[in-house]
Amino acid sequence: MRRVGGEGARSSFADDVRRGLTATPKFLYPKYFYDELGSRLFEAITALPEYYVTRSEAEILRARAGEIVAALGGPLWLVELGSGDGQKTRLVIEALLARQETLEYVPVDISESAIETSSRSLLLSYPDLRITGYIGEYHAALRMIRKERVRPGRTLVLFLGSTLGNLDPKERLAFLRDVRNLLNPGEGFLLGVDLEKPESVLIPAYDDPLKVTAAFNLNLLVRIDRELGGGFDISTFRHRALYNGAEGRIEMHLESRRDQTVPIRGLGLEVSFAAGETIHTESSYKFRREQIAALAAETGFELRRTWTDSRGWFSSNLLIAT
Ligand code: TRP
Repeated sequence: MRRVGGEGARSSFADDVRRGLTATPKFLYPKYFYDELGSRLFEAITALPEYYVTRSEAEILRARAGEIVAALGGPLWLVELGSGDGQKTRLVIEALLARQETLEYVPVDISESAIETSSRSLLLSYPDLRITGYIGEYHAALRMIRKERVRPGRTLVLFLGSTLGNLDPKERLAFLRDVRNLLNPGEGFLLGVDLEKPESVLIPAYDDPLKVTAAFNLNLLVRIDRELGGGFDISTFRHRALYNGAEGRIEMHLESRRDQTVPIRGLGLEVSFAAGETIHTESSYKFRREQIAALAAETGFELRRTWTDSRGWFSSNLLIAT
């Protein structure tokens, strides 16, 4: 297991919280959702009936993983960005192990607990797997992987779920170019992209009646209280999911229920909130199918093929480095 940029991590959480909570409007970066509890709450989200993303993508991979890996030739090694609990990865790993004897798997995730738990369980299931995990952010991890890994074959990069949608348009291009830099021409990138759909489907997916998503979002404040000596009273904030049609995205916010001032001792900071004021914690962009080919072309890829689930809600896209 390799830790990427681990040393400065605590101070950058402090710096980022200071920056976000003193900005107008207030924001916090979504990468900080994924502490140990946050990662488990996200896994719980993926099991919610309203959160169609995970189930739609698993449906595609169950039907198509064999076809996807066959399109690339082999032998392949697998780099996965944002591997999380690794459940959907199993479908790709099984397709690969049906074609080759062994497989090197390199998961990258911001959550150490997610990498540890998923690696242990994958190794139990697949004795022919070799795993080296990287804990950290994508940009730094990709650079390290490029520098230090000996490639045991052709590269397939996986980016599953709808995390691409959590990047803003500029970050999205930079990210795709980072991935492209790891690849040689002809190598593959399997990219999950969530598609535009009615607001009546989107809102419950991001604001479920059991309030699991609310807990996931509010946990960010719990984390600030614990790690930075914050004084947030969680019950005075609530989770809000809004559809921003002009931007084509769902926005997640934490809304203050009243006027209040919150001390954050570790930052020597007092943060004032007006009643109804929000902290923007994440955006989740939804895409039209034409956008995907354009994004690929703009970042050094060709879109070889798109598969969708039976409802046409989610897409898996095989990009080939040009
Ligand atoms: N990548 C996930 C998505 O955009 C993350 C997510 C799901 C999320 N539900 C959330 C992030 C609620 C913040 C709040 O679908």
